[in-house]
Amino acid sequence: MRSQSGRIVTGLDIGTTKVCAIIGEYGVDGRVDIIGVGTEVCTGLRRGVVMNIQKTIESVRKAVEEAELMSGVDVQDVYVGIAGAHIQAKNSRGVIAVSRKGGIIAQDDVDRVIEAAQAVPLPPGRRMLHVVPQTFVVDEQPGILDPVGMNGVRLEGEVHIVTGDVAKVQSLLQAVEGAGLHVADIVLEPLASSMAVLDEDEKEMGVAMVDIGGGTTDLAIFLGSCIRHTSSIPIGGDLVTTDVAYGLKVPKGRAEEIKKKHGCAMQALVPSDECFVVPGVGANDQRELTRLELAAIIEPRMVEIYRGVAAELRQLGLHAHLGAGLVLTGGGSLLPGAAELASHVIGLPVRLGAPRGFGGLVDSASTPKHATGVGLVFYGQADGGAGSSSSPVSAGSDHLKDIFQRMTRWVSRYF
Ligand SMILES: Nc1ncnc2c1ncn2[C@@H]1O[C@H](COP(=O)(O)OP(=O)(O)OP(=O)(O)O)[C@@H](O)[C@H]1O
Ligand SMILES: [Mg+2]
Repeated sequence: MRSQSGRIVTGLDIGTTKVCAIIGEYGVDGRVDIIGVGTEVCTGLRRGVVMNIQKTIESVRKAVEEAELMSGVDVQDVYVGIAGAHIQAKNSRGVIAVSRKGGIIAQDDVDRVIEAAQAVPLPPGRRMLHVVPQTFVVDEQPGILDPVGMNGVRLEGEVHIVTGDVAKVQSLLQAVEGAGLHVADIVLEPLASSMAVLDEDEKEMGVAMVDIGGGTTDLAIFLGSCIRHTSSIPIGGDLVTTDVAYGLKVPKGRAEEIKKKHGCAMQALVPSDECFVVPGVGANDQRELTRLELAAIIEPRMVEIYRGVAAELRQLGLHAHLGAGLVLTGGGSLLPGAAELASHVIGLPVRLGAPRGFGGLVDSASTPKHATGVGLVFYGQADGGAGSSSSPVSAGSDHLKDIFQRMTRWVSRYF
């Protein structure tokens, strides 16, 4: 094993199409080098949720082994991403009277108002995953990010609360711990991705990060430097592939290759004379198709994904407030024309977001497919190792309770 000079943080992104393990090494100056990247196909999930634990364990094991081999590090603790339709998020507010009349607001008041804001009833089987403070109102003055030290009598606080289904969190834990790893913390995937791809300026101006994965398209919206909204649309790149397979009458594996090699999200961007060969399958002979015909299959699905995003922005009344527009990430954003079509459908400026802000294996890690994995490494560092404990590995209820407790520490400083 390698002699380590800095702190090692490992992110584990268990996605619908692949498991990806990313190992980062932090220097004393706070800079990070990515020193290991391992990716393994995973068929154990559906739309972000673990359906087959054994298959998932295998993929986790292989992805981590690959990253370990590359880095010479023996991985024990991992920061794990979570997503899926069971995740729900909402904003909530609480109000308190400041303890010392007319006095200065202390951390203690902030803690109390956040506690008041998170006192929302949860149905059985659902637990809080994150409580992220947003902004505060001191007396009549809104939009304050840090009220400590200000004068006031009335303190109001807003938080973004993310909840998940306990059983689904438990299967995720089982899959990771079954692979012999210790879960340092569980982090909502779009929040992790946003740490790797968004700038502070964008978060201040208002930005929607759209992570187009295989099974889901995840959304994280920031405004005034804080998180306003997270959600998930249950369509991703896999449905595009399924449509290509159906339309061209080829198996899904072949359709995936064709999509990646010749696909385009927008017909208007494809020259009408570009052709490619579809190999014969079964009774179907090899044939030639135009890229335009392929784009005609892909475009409607991508439009459906973007209409879902647009509908959400409209419903939230946030469309006009996103000064920095949209940032696309995730494997689905690699489709040529993905950004142009998004801009056309949603009516906002769009840029592609690859993870950045690290050294080391820059070529392998800076692809939008690794936004979540790299973001988990960033989160782990911000977490300062608080999540890594040497407690014994178990997906039992005590460990789960422990994880939930750690996750509801206030994490404003991260997002
Ligand atoms: N070069 C490419 N061109 C077009 N599409 C691509 C390319 N590379 C990957 N994709 C698509 O990206 C999707 C996978 O993205 P990603 O790896 O971000 O998903 P995931 O994290 O496994 O899934 P999820 O986030 O939904 O759980 C697949 O549908 C795949 O077809
Ligand atoms: Mg993903």
